[in-house]
Amino acid sequence: MVVLGIETTCDETAAAVVERRADGSGAILSNIVLSQTKEHAAYGGVVPEIAARAHVEALDKVIAAALKDAGRTWDRIDAVAAAAGPGLIGGVIVGLTTAKAIALVNKLPFIAVNHLEAHGLSPRLIGAVPFPYFLFLASGGHTQIVAVLGVGDYVRLGTTLDDAIGEAFDKTAKLLGLGYPGGPLVEREAERGQAERFALPRPMLGRPDPNFSFSGLKTAVRLEAQKIAPLSERDVADLCAAFQAAVTDVVADRLTAGLKAFRPRFGSPNALVAAGGVASNRAIRAVLHRVAFEARTVLVVPPPELCTDNGAMIAWAGSERLACGVTDALDASPRARWSLEAVTRPVGKDEAAKG
Ligand code: KG4
Ligand code: ZN
Repeated sequence: MVVLGIETTCDETAAAVVERRADGSGAILSNIVLSQTKEHAAYGGVVPEIAARAHVEALDKVIAAALKDAGRTWDRIDAVAAAAGPGLIGGVIVGLTTAKAIALVNKLPFIAVNHLEAHGLSPRLIGAVPFPYFLFLASGGHTQIVAVLGVGDYVRLGTTLDDAIGEAFDKTAKLLGLGYPGGPLVEREAERGQAERFALPRPMLGRPDPNFSFSGLKTAVRLEAQKIAPLSERDVADLCAAFQAAVTDVVADRLTAGLKAFRPRFGSPNALVAAGGVASNRAIRAVLHRVAFEARTVLVVPPPELCTDNGAMIAWAGSERLACGVTDALDASPRARWSLEAVTRPVGKDEAAKG
């Protein structure tokens, strides 16, 4: 089964062609991602109107490139999937409408994919990761701990009470005068900084509920920066190091709390899976290794190009749903908000889904 996937929920215009074989394994035939980073850099964050317009301008070409790279014509595509949310609604409408038009013209099954579900199922595209597993979703828009029990079967154990983890990186970068997106820049500065110089808070540490909070940490960085302004290069590096150390401490503690909540309800997870752009941070990866080791489970982190937003994960989630007999009608709505727990569960296909 060969599926075209379209992703336009944020600032990446992406399309990919993915194959799902009968044994449940997957292969990426093409994966085109056009980042709008430059368009948004001057604003220090994604501007929804600019994003939607850029998707309109780029999407047709990105889809054509994905087909060409995969060496496929429409008659050798079996289904089309698009991210129907959650995300910036203008962009979602662009991707979803395009996918529906393609499905209609080429008489293909259509699947409206939840973007978070796509992140969550992405490790199964690169290897056999059986359900149930423990998912840490860490991106610019989301920070969630999820029990993944099957296709369409998710239980959210924890979330952020305020800023997303990637957003905290981006806001810290902005207030320290670094560029956008901030995560990789903060990581680079942190590598040559001294974390011990600043005593930053570790919000939520020790709480049994596996939730997160980052806005207090961001404020603490701002207050420290104001105390010593104007900032030297050394100051910026030290503040980044202190911020990243606080975040990694929080992640280790919160994931440990999440695993404690997971076990009595769902048994031992088959893996600790991390997805989303922040999962490419090396300090965070080191912490994930430690947490997985202590929990006697394996750590699975998709490669960076599958961690950040992409069309392959949408195509793959579409193919997993299709394999469970799920398709969507062409009147499926775009959704700015769409929680993982509201995703429909395949009916009567539970056994196939658990494979
Ligand atoms: O998953 P993603 O590409 O897009 C969504 O938000 O859905 O994640 C982007 C986020 C941004 O906030 C970016 O700053 C952060 O991931 N990020 C990082 C790193 N690379 C990307 N944060 C920390 N360290 C990194 N190396
Ligand atoms: Zn994402």
